[in-house]
Amino acid sequence: MSTLSGKTVMITGASRGLGRALARATARQGAALAVCARGGEALEAVADECRGLGVDVLAVITDMADASDIERFAATALERFGGVDVLVNNAAELGPLPLPQLTDAPSSALEHVLNANVLGPLRLTQAVIGGMLLRNRGLVVNISTDAALIGFEGLGLYSASKAALDALTRSWSAELRQTAVRVVSVDPGDMYTQMHMAADPEANPADLLRPEDVAERLLILFEGRLPMGDRVEAVSLA
Ligand SMILES: NC(=O)c1ccc[n+]([C@@H]2O[C@H](COP(=O)([O-])OP(=O)(O)OC[C@H]3O[C@@H](n4cnc5c(N)ncnc54)[C@H](OP(=O)(O)O)[C@@H]3O)[C@@H](O)[C@H]2O)c1
Repeated sequence: MSTLSGKTVMITGASRGLGRALARATARQGAALAVCARGGEALEAVADECRGLGVDVLAVITDMADASDIERFAATALERFGGVDVLVNNAAELGPLPLPQLTDAPSSALEHVLNANVLGPLRLTQAVIGGMLLRNRGLVVNISTDAALIGFEGLGLYSASKAALDALTRSWSAELRQTAVRVVSVDPGDMYTQMHMAADPEANPADLLRPEDVAERLLILFEGRLPMGDRVEAVSLA
């Protein structure tokens, strides 16, 4: 039997990059999937590919910056699957491109990035974590970055949002210490994806991780083999 057979995994931003790699990897392990992104065509293509592996897939066009979209995604998933075993808050936005220096960045851009990268994950987690607590099992993975800890030129808005998401992770983790529900931040490392190339067009793909390899490491968490602490570097998972 596949390792995630009978489980439901919810992944935001599953139409490309790490989210798509995670969707494919979890489907190969037999998990039912609830996936979202804004762009329907690319999302449906991933959903169809995963259905081809024999698993049930719900794909809902969702903007993680929009509270009513999130409510609809969560409600549809809960109705279809009854509950979520693993939620991966993966979708994220860098903000305006080309990346502005903070001196010039409009505050409205920070508002949008915080909505998509912080309020979105908070809202979606709140919508599904009640069921996890009732069953006293479940995992929420918030995808973080080294930019949550380190200042990089041009990444101020994104960094602020990921630092805020890390703060939510730490508090949630502390609040749930007495339960079997875990909330962790995972830094996937620098990957060859559209986001990375948008942030650093000069990057050499050969120096970057393949999202498929990072996804395989994250499966270790999904299977319940969780390291101590609430922040995990994906490269340390083996
Ligand atoms: N790539 C790296 O080197 C790197 C390093 C550290 C951390 N990370 C983190 O890893 C995660 C995945 O990044 P990635 O590199 O795979 O990014 P990516 O290639 O840009 O993919 C992002 C995914 O999220 C979706 N998305 C973006 N904004 C959304 C929104 N508002 N609502 C719903 N879906 C949205 C995108 O689809 P649509 O555009 O169609 O919505 C896409 O499916 C992110 O949390 C990122 O911060 C990446």
